[in-house]
This record gives sequence, C-alpha cells and structure tokens, in this order.
Amino acid sequence: MSDRPTTLGLVPQIPEKVHELTVGQLSARSGAAVSALHFYETKGLISSRRTTGNQRRYSRDALRRVAFVRAAQRVGIPLAAIREALAQLPEERTPNREDWARLSETWRTELDRRITQLARLRDHLTDCIGCGCLSLKNCALSNPDDVFGEQLTGSRL
Ligand code: FES
Repeated sequence: MSDRPTTLGLVPQIPEKVHELTVGQLSARSGAAVSALHFYETKGLISSRRTTGNQRRYSRDALRRVAFVRAAQRVGIPLAAIREALAQLPEERTPNREDWARLSETWRTELDRRITQLARLRDHLTDCIGCGCLSLKNCALSNPDDVFGEQLTGSRL
C-alpha cells in the first residue's frame, strides 16, 4: 500500500477492490480513534450503513471526509461550522481539493480574529498573574474582545 500526498496531508490509499471499511479500518487508516469516529457520526459529519449484524460500514470516501474534519479541527474550526460546510456541498459529497481551498479561505477571517484575540491575551497575561480581579473593564482574560473598552463608553458602562 502506498501513500499519496493530498492537500489534506498523506491519506493512506485503499485498494480498489475494497469498497467499504469497518470502523476499525477507518480508524487505522485515518488516525482517528474509534470513539472519535462514532462521535463524528453522531454529529452528522460522516455516515455509515449497518450490516445485517448491525455493524457499521463506511464508504471509501469516509476516509477523506475524516481527513477534512480533522484538518479543520486542527485549525480550531468548531464541529458545527464543519458540519455546516459539509452540508453545503452538492448532495453532501466528500470535499475535494477545490472545496477545501474555498472553505479554508472563508474560515480565514475567523482564524485571524482568534489569532488577534490570543495575541492580546498573551500580551496581557502578565497583568493577570497574581491579580484575580477578573474585571470586565481592565482584564483581558475576563473581557477578551474588550467589548466594553472598544464598543461602549461612559454612562453605558
Ligand atoms: S485578573 Fe486582574 S487583570 Fe486579569
């Protein structure tokens, strides 16, 4: 078995004759824990059919869907947003390279906002050490978006 580089990293290849995967095979090939796969399924991110023995079987493209979900999670995209993105694809097909490029671009703004917020928290963390005030007016941890400082003024506070 060879590995083929994709935009989502190295995705282990499945022999052509294999059309469905057990949850264990999907776990081994995707690197996601079985419990994570079950969780993804309960959240509607992947789906399976049940055998007559009530065992899950996943189609081959579930591997790419899992890679997509894990890549999005790695950059901090909430599962709800990932599910929404997947649901927007025609017939809920598995995202391809162009889908990933387009979706990752739409998530950039949110990622930039989070990076800015984290940088602000990092820069103000030393003020909080040993303080404990958690003031909405002064504390970056308590008010990470500086809602009151930047949007409200004077008597509104
Ligand atoms: S806890 Fe006091 S400034 Fe953050």
